[in-house]
Amino acid sequence: MTTSRMSLHGQWSSRLAFILAATGSAVGLGNIWKFPYIAGENGGGAFVLVYLVCIAVIGIPVMMAEIMLGRRGRQSPINTMRTLAMDERASGLWRYMGWLGVVAGFLILSYYSVIAGWALSYIFKTAQGTFTGASTQFVTAQFSSLLSSPVRLVAWHSIFMFMTMVVVARGVQSGLEQAVRYLMPALGVILLTLVGYAVIEGDFMQGVHFLFDPDFSKLNGNAILIAMGHAFFTLSLGMGAMMAYGSYLSAHTSIAKTTFIVAAADTAVALLAGLAIFPLVFAEGLQPDAGPGLIFKTLPIAFGSMPGGEEIGTLFFVLLVFAAWTSAISIIEPVVSYLVEQRGVHRGRAALWSGLAAWVVGLGTVFSFNIGSGVTVLGKTFFDLADYLTSNIMLPLGGFLIAVFAAWIMREQSSIDEFDMGDRFAYRLWFYIVRYFSPLGILIIFLHAIGLL
Ligand code: TRP
Repeated sequence: MTTSRMSLHGQWSSRLAFILAATGSAVGLGNIWKFPYIAGENGGGAFVLVYLVCIAVIGIPVMMAEIMLGRRGRQSPINTMRTLAMDERASGLWRYMGWLGVVAGFLILSYYSVIAGWALSYIFKTAQGTFTGASTQFVTAQFSSLLSSPVRLVAWHSIFMFMTMVVVARGVQSGLEQAVRYLMPALGVILLTLVGYAVIEGDFMQGVHFLFDPDFSKLNGNAILIAMGHAFFTLSLGMGAMMAYGSYLSAHTSIAKTTFIVAAADTAVALLAGLAIFPLVFAEGLQPDAGPGLIFKTLPIAFGSMPGGEEIGTLFFVLLVFAAWTSAISIIEPVVSYLVEQRGVHRGRAALWSGLAAWVVGLGTVFSFNIGSGVTVLGKTFFDLADYLTSNIMLPLGGFLIAVFAAWIMREQSSIDEFDMGDRFAYRLWFYIVRYFSPLGILIIFLHAIGLL
């Protein structure tokens, strides 16, 4: 038996539609832009291993919990948590978990849009043949020149934010489903092509060695925290995005199966991106710890020298923008669905105002790379701070609370009903992992990072 609540905002047309939307949310800049550069900054293999363990032990079980809560509540995350807390006779304070997600969402979207703007601008650079035959120095200089121009960054940031608002205003179901259906496979094909290029032209073995040979001396508490934070970020967990998407899910879809599919696709894309990029990094004598510019400094070199590179490169950045787009709309969906159901705001207006708010905050990130690069708190620029706070603190904290709610506060019968898979071994396994492993894992990693453990 499942609940009879209906979502005000509509439902996914099929199980496949949900898988596509959730994969669209999960696969984004996190996989292709962020994963390689943070793996590079944190020494490679050991970091990647911790990330993979976090996906398995924390990410997948918490994702099941988050989708399950969303489907049971059938409302925006804030109201879902309020309703579920009432159902379970728990404290009304649980709705603040929804609010934590709203704040995290604004911060994430604010810088996400700026980075997606970089990718937008690279579509045109690549298409114009800027990188054809270009040297490493030239490619690096191109990137620095983009970052040094607040005007160009704001322009691209504005365009991307506008694109996001348009889709969110129309409702996430229409349009999005079709887009993801064709673009995700296309992205997979082009990444495989790039890996093929890396095998032929790059230092492939050194790339593999860097990504998969763990050297635990490179791992400190902070690196472990970043790996866990990224597991949340890349799966879109811990702030209500998956909860909102789960609230549009039909009662008969298996949450466990769909979660595995989404997590597997997400992980595959990240590892492929790593395998495409690191062989080039080593072959070109670049530094793996080049930071947020890593893919923008390496891939154009490949596009500049491979046959058909202009076309392949342009297509790559187009697909990267699409991947970012389908992620961005999920970041703001919790806020918009809340404004629609609670305040009776028209969906278009809700999208417009939340997009504008995130756009303004995004200026902080724009200036982090040029005129405001000297403005730091604890040695971090606005961008570094927004990224660190959201990925490494707010999302894991949100995930912790989701796990605690699902496995300690909720009656077991409620989650058994909602998963609709009976009280079998698979359910027990999920239950014990979410009750003990996931929250304890998060807690231990937090304590270790601040030096208390
Ligand atoms: N997962 C996306 C990526 O890897 C980003 C994203 C979308 C996200 N929705 C989210 C991150 C919600 C955190 C929370 O690019």
